[in-house]
Amino acid sequence: MANIAGAITTSHVPAIGTAIARGLQQDPYWRSFFDAFQGAHDWLQEVHPDVVVVFYNDHGLNFFLDKMPTFAVGAASEYRYADEGWGIPAMFPPFPGDTQLSWHLIESLVHDEFDLTTCQEMQVDHAFAVPMALLWPGVTSWPVRTVPIAINTVQHPLPSAVRCFKLGQAVGRAIEAFPQDLQVVILGTGGLSHQLEGTRAGFINKEFDLMCMDKLVSDPTALTRYSNTQLVDLAGSQGVELLMWIAARGALTGRVTSVHSNYHIPISNTAAGLMVMENRRIGMQSQRHIEVASA
Ligand code: DHB
Ligand code: FE
Repeated sequence: MANIAGAITTSHVPAIGTAIARGLQQDPYWRSFFDAFQGAHDWLQEVHPDVVVVFYNDHGLNFFLDKMPTFAVGAASEYRYADEGWGIPAMFPPFPGDTQLSWHLIESLVHDEFDLTTCQEMQVDHAFAVPMALLWPGVTSWPVRTVPIAINTVQHPLPSAVRCFKLGQAVGRAIEAFPQDLQVVILGTGGLSHQLEGTRAGFINKEFDLMCMDKLVSDPTALTRYSNTQLVDLAGSQGVELLMWIAARGALTGRVTSVHSNYHIPISNTAAGLMVMENRRIGMQSQRHIEVASA
């Protein structure tokens, strides 16, 4: 059966992609940010995943404001990075898919009453590609297969935090019911606090971010009590990308411990967070039974 080794959550700022393209990892502005990924590299080497299931938000590449699925799951054999105008060169090798796991997740999620958009062709943007490049730097082919799950955080109305947590829980259940012996890592990208536009452009809320990083491990349902209006107020209009971290945490079905974390202000306009959380199976006491109030 498939096993969920844990989850990594990280910011996905496009400027990271241009820094990688220019080889600026040891530049004074970037060094401590990039160096903090060593803890994630060490852990990935230990758990050696076959597949990464990636919760991220599409910023307008596959879906634009006129057609915006709340949840979209990739079911392609390959996902290519496409330029969205942030100046990141198309330097990433194609991301291999896992169509069997994709369709298993889709069937299970629809059975669990998540009405999805299924994408047999899908391009990926910085929110998917930049975190992958941070986790596996410099590869010429990816050592893992991928399943992208896009959550709308661009066009209102957005799914609630509790709904995203429940989506994560349903993904976790589905992975653990997948009959292949796969080692799976969950990746959630976005956040932490940031706002790109308007009078609050550049807004960062360190206290709130650090509280979220703490609660994500110890008491994730505390985070599901925030409305999206509250999240925008507390974390900025794009800080609502925290929903991807909440979904990723929902997929962890066992006892969760923090292996590594880092908080770095700022990268571009964003408070950049990184967390590596390990998931240990605890049999019947599995956290997948956490009940969360309906939104
Ligand atoms: C930035 C952050 C994002 O999450 C994003 O999608 C685009 C830009 C930034 O801080 O520049
Ligand atoms: Fe973003």
